[in-house]
Amino acid sequence: MEIKTIADIDIKLASVSKIKDVDFETLSFGNVFTDHMLVCDYENGVWKKPSIEPYAPFMIDPSAKVFHYGQAIFEGMKAYKDEQDDVWLFRPDQNYERFNKSAVRMAMPEVPEDVFMGGLKQLLEIEKDWVKKGKGSSLYIRPFMIATGKGVVAAPAVFYRFMIILSPAKSYYSGEVKVLIAEHFSRAANGGIGAAKAAGNYSAQFYPTKLANEKGYQQIIWTDDATHTKLEEAGTMNVFFRINDTLYTAPTSERILDGVTRKSLIDLAKRENINVEVRPVLVTELVEAAQNGTLQEIFGAGTAAVVNPIVGFEYQGTYYELPKLDQPVALALKEKLNNIQYKLEEDTFGWTVKI
Ligand code: COI
Repeated sequence: MEIKTIADIDIKLASVSKIKDVDFETLSFGNVFTDHMLVCDYENGVWKKPSIEPYAPFMIDPSAKVFHYGQAIFEGMKAYKDEQDDVWLFRPDQNYERFNKSAVRMAMPEVPEDVFMGGLKQLLEIEKDWVKKGKGSSLYIRPFMIATGKGVVAAPAVFYRFMIILSPAKSYYSGEVKVLIAEHFSRAANGGIGAAKAAGNYSAQFYPTKLANEKGYQQIIWTDDATHTKLEEAGTMNVFFRINDTLYTAPTSERILDGVTRKSLIDLAKRENINVEVRPVLVTELVEAAQNGTLQEIFGAGTAAVVNPIVGFEYQGTYYELPKLDQPVALALKEKLNNIQYKLEEDTFGWTVKI
């Protein structure tokens, strides 16, 4: 895949760069942003000329629908730098496709490919010094769209803004991740917006996650809303379970996000001859495997989190600790994935795209 730049774009560069003030070694996720952002407005059925501008706050009407009805979607991607100083994206077509699926589900306009991909390419060319070399360093890319149209009538807006902002990143989680299995709260329901990367899917998790944090858990593993018997995803990441030598992960559905890292890990695991079963995983299976010692690993997979081992889980008031393994599959898969992303091994899947 080759990404083409946009011919018709306004570029206004920042007069000074903030880069020299940033300590790239001690970054906490998502707090520092680069010097520029991409902006493209949609008005009455037409996408306007995109622009790259200095990163800055902007004005928006207090009645804009994003504030009242949460018409907002986003994506999470990363750019990586190889040893030759070239910048690479990982499966950007998947994020673009999912972004527009989210847009359709939220009654928002689809973003043209030249604006999303071409705009991103031009933004990254300007900001390439913010992509640091070395495994673990990346530039997190946050494309998003909000309804800027005025008026508190509960109907889709006619004005939207698509933007891309960039944030240099190290790891998402610092320290061990313990999870609570959801028994009451739900992330999504059939027929709802769980498969869309809609802002509301994330804010709806804040309160139950805050309660989980108070009990010492960093995340919740969501279960299906109807029966709370099937393990679904962890909200910031999809989840994998290893029982004996088989990896299990839930199939994507109307309730579960079709994660790019998730599907890449499934393909990588298959290539490495690891048994992978994509099927509903029951909470009872997990508890039984933890009790009889066959549960080896649980890990999350997502763009921001990459592959994140989970050290234990609580269900119905009992905490189950996972074994500490010398050679966890999670870390082996993470290494294979990173090697492809940082161009340290041949990308036989054709996933990486040069900027
Ligand atoms: C990502 O992994 O890119 C996400 O969008 C998750 C987000 C909560 C950081």
